[in-house]
Amino acid sequence: MKKSYITSPIYYVNDVPHIGHAYTTIICDMLKKYRQIHGQEVFLLTGTDEHGQKIENSAKAHNQTPQAYADSISAHFRTLWEEFGIDFDYFIRTTDSAHCQSAQVAFKKMFQKGDIYKGVYEGWYCISCESHFTKHQVVEQKCPDCGKPTTTIKEESYFFALSKYQNALLQWYEQCPDVIVPKHKRNEVIRFVESGLVDLSITRTGFSWGVPLPEGIENAENAPKHILYVWLDALISYISVIGYESAMRMDLWENATHIVGKDILRFHAVYWPAFLMSLGLPLPRKIYAHGWWTRDGVKMSKSIGNVVNPKEVAQSYGIEAFRYFLLREVPFGQDGDFSQRALIERINSDLSNDIGNLLNRLIGMAQKYFNLTLFCTQIEHFYPQEVAKIAPILERFESAMSDMQPHIALEELWGLLRLGNNVISTYEPWKMMKQGESEPTLALLMLVSNILLKTALCLYPIMPRTAKSIATALGCSIDTQSFTRYVSQNTLLQSATLTPIAPLFPRIESPLMPEPSNLSESTSQSTAPKTQSHAQSTLTSAPSLVSIEEFAKLDLRVGVVLECERVPKSEKLLKFLIDLGESTPRQILSGIAKYYDPSELVGKQVCVVANLRPVKLMGLLSSGMILSAHDDEGLSLLSVPKKAGSKIS
Ligand code: ME8
Ligand code: MG
Repeated sequence: MKKSYITSPIYYVNDVPHIGHAYTTIICDMLKKYRQIHGQEVFLLTGTDEHGQKIENSAKAHNQTPQAYADSISAHFRTLWEEFGIDFDYFIRTTDSAHCQSAQVAFKKMFQKGDIYKGVYEGWYCISCESHFTKHQVVEQKCPDCGKPTTTIKEESYFFALSKYQNALLQWYEQCPDVIVPKHKRNEVIRFVESGLVDLSITRTGFSWGVPLPEGIENAENAPKHILYVWLDALISYISVIGYESAMRMDLWENATHIVGKDILRFHAVYWPAFLMSLGLPLPRKIYAHGWWTRDGVKMSKSIGNVVNPKEVAQSYGIEAFRYFLLREVPFGQDGDFSQRALIERINSDLSNDIGNLLNRLIGMAQKYFNLTLFCTQIEHFYPQEVAKIAPILERFESAMSDMQPHIALEELWGLLRLGNNVISTYEPWKMMKQGESEPTLALLMLVSNILLKTALCLYPIMPRTAKSIATALGCSIDTQSFTRYVSQNTLLQSATLTPIAPLFPRIESPLMPEPSNLSESTSQSTAPKTQSHAQSTLTSAPSLVSIEEFAKLDLRVGVVLECERVPKSEKLLKFLIDLGESTPRQILSGIAKYYDPSELVGKQVCVVANLRPVKLMGLLSSGMILSAHDDEGLSLLSVPKKAGSKIS
């Protein structure tokens, strides 16, 4: 049996898990289940990264020792994954002594190879990212990756001769073009390496919370005490878990997949393969980098108080719906936005309607007409066109899943559910039964049973518990054998004894979690008409004088309309997605629905007040204001033929 190894990042224990951690770990679990149902043996690793300056500082801030602090946060991660049903095989903690020993052995090996030398590190450091930067990389002393302030350090350090591996890395990217996914991220990595690699500082001396250097490397008595750079320590955990020091499980290592967020791709696609080359080990087969989650269009941060707590989401909406939302909502590799509104919409339309109702209708009719026992060998005879549509859908599902595009795979699978719902509404089995046509009715119900069984088997990696419930209701099971038979070979099930179950996803009428306090505060102050009159009053009433400094507080910019649509149930509001030259487009609402048709605005350059405090209108977040001019004849948007993000002053 083919074996494979999947790793999640080893998460820092500076804070409890949030939606981003849950997303990555759920993708790992999905991939494991997807491979398993295809008959592969899979080993899934997750765990916590517990050393380094960031953890030492967090522990201090909480008045705890680093170890005690790490113990408590690490337990949060582990418990959450257990509650979520994440099927991990090992949970590594980088403070485990076996791991520390492996990290030392690896350091020694690289040292003996001649890839490590002593020097002095002088440069910038971001504690939050635990990452070094040169003068040219920092922007006004801020970290180019996370934007937080950096510190400068000058200390004795051991260096890893990263520059030596520049060509070998470029060769590897070229020879194995499919390793780094998605492609645009791979290109960024290549450009980074092409621009020239500098040797990497891999020990620290300014503090002590880390793995000490191995014996025999430092022997001068008064020499500063070095500890391993936390990233070297953490990356080694991928191999320490599978026995790096003793009998390394090469069967797993030769088929390794790393799943990470885009924030840490450089560490995985540049530094890590260079370390592995130095250690003489094979390189990973796949490195998947996903995008970044925001909440209601805003970056999540503790100071704003808008961090999504995955535990709370799962407790409120159920882990299955949460998994579905995360995997369906965002194309893998792109940034995603969490909002309760979007989640509820997915639950009500995709889950409650499309799956839940279909299963209910099937069970209801099977009970009424056939006492829950269905048997038919002529499904294809009665419904040849419908049956013919199944195979291509399954093929497209499989191809999207193997390309790590679960959102497309799910879109395809929903095509299958639509087929199921459509046969019922088209052929109206209740009428057929009235006319005494029980054979075609039986065939129809068996067709729907088949559609649901195939859906359940495909859905298993994404919503394992739901998949099992559907299969149980159909009297079937979710396993490799069934998958091969009913999905890979697309055989038709000819008989089923159904068992009624409770409705799968009851509709949700209103949000089940409180919104972040400072955002809902602004919600209560504002309503749609108020914003409009506010816009009008600033533009039409006699203006009082402002100083140039006051005017300069406004951040006015050119935005390009990417999407525009009406807000349901509102006569006034249009919802815009606007490119302001930032990494994520903004959602902005504007009360101009009376004056414009949404379709004529897409692609238009508009003027935006970019630093207006976000407000909620009709439950939707609006982060900015679009400027317009108003007279007796109506309203016109201001427009400037400049690039998105251009400053207006
Ligand atoms: O970087 N959106 O740990 P970390 C999407 N210890 N994903 C997010 C996210 C967000 N807003 N926030 C976090 C570390 N993540 C190192 C890793 S590996 C040898 C060492 C996810 O706790 C995403 O997977 O900062 C990201 O890469 C990871 O959490 C970073 O977790
Ligand atoms: Mg981080």
